[in-house]
Amino acid sequence: MVILGIETSCDETAASVVRDGKEILSNAIASSVEMHAKTGGIIPEQAAREQVRSIIPVISEATVNSKYEIKNIDAIAVTCGPGLIGSLLVGVETARTLAWVWNKPIVPVNHLLGHIYANWLQTPPILPAIALVVSGGHTDIVLLKDRKEIEWIGGTRDDAAGETFDKAARLLELGYPGGPAISAAAEKFQTTNPKTQIKLPRPLLYDKTFDFSFSGLKTAVLREVNHLKEINQFNSETTNQVAHEVQEAITDVLVIKTLKAVREYCVNTVLVSGGVAANSRLREKFALEIENWKLEIDLRVPPPHLCTDNADMVAAAAEFNYHPIPWQEVTTNPGLQIAEAV
Ligand code: KG4
Ligand code: ZN
Repeated sequence: MVILGIETSCDETAASVVRDGKEILSNAIASSVEMHAKTGGIIPEQAAREQVRSIIPVISEATVNSKYEIKNIDAIAVTCGPGLIGSLLVGVETARTLAWVWNKPIVPVNHLLGHIYANWLQTPPILPAIALVVSGGHTDIVLLKDRKEIEWIGGTRDDAAGETFDKAARLLELGYPGGPAISAAAEKFQTTNPKTQIKLPRPLLYDKTFDFSFSGLKTAVLREVNHLKEINQFNSETTNQVAHEVQEAITDVLVIKTLKAVREYCVNTVLVSGGVAANSRLREKFALEIENWKLEIDLRVPPPHLCTDNADMVAAAAEFNYHPIPWQEVTTNPGLQIAEAV
């Protein structure tokens, strides 16, 4: 099948044409991240206005570049949730309208499932698998028994991993989005002085559940920053040092908990996805620990541009979970959970 995917859950407006859920024929993306960088975070109202501005040009670009005539596109897939209500509405209303005008089937897609299905592009993995989804608003571990049966086995009790990167970056005055900013600062620290005295907590690391909790880590960063300011030592060197430790703390917990789940559920595949999966230290640590634990498993992490929000993953998720519904019934669901049907 050839599917046009549409993704507008947050601050990216994306459209892609994907064949058989594996082959990306074209994609286009517009991001309002630069605008949000000026305010240090996303203002939902402004994100939605930018979605309105970008949606038609982005879909036009993707469809024209695919070299497929509209009549040869088999279906439209659109993110219905979770996400920001204003942003989601733009994608969903556009998809509904196009489905009606072009007379195409429409498939609603759970954004979090979309992140997981970024791992299907090119070569589909073998199930069962443990999947870690780490985005700006979500941190979840699920067991994919097969494509139809997904069991949630753990998640964050408070802040998501991406949100923690973003909040720590704000405290360290490194700008938005926080993940790439923390990563860049951490890299500078490693190259100058690989010894750190700053130690941050690894919340719930030895806890028996597969849950996470990052709010204490955020408070610890705040305390460290305040302390550095008090002693007049808040400078680029200490900032890089804290950034390094934040990244180590978050990635330690994510990797260890996920691999514990892999061992407990005896699976041979681990799928990592979502914006935080673009983090190179996380990718490196997964590979290292899999070797240390002597696990013979297939580790899948999409290339960085398919970890952050994109429409390729939405088209792939729709291809492998093909349940079109009448366009009149497609609605937004900002609070949709990972294992919940759309
Ligand atoms: O999946 P995503 O693009 O959007 C949501 O669905 O939320 O994830 C965005 C999150 C942000 O919190 C951002 O800081 C984080 O992913 N992120 C990263 C990196 N790139 C993006 N976190 C750590 N390292 C990165 N390189
Ligand atoms: Zn996302």
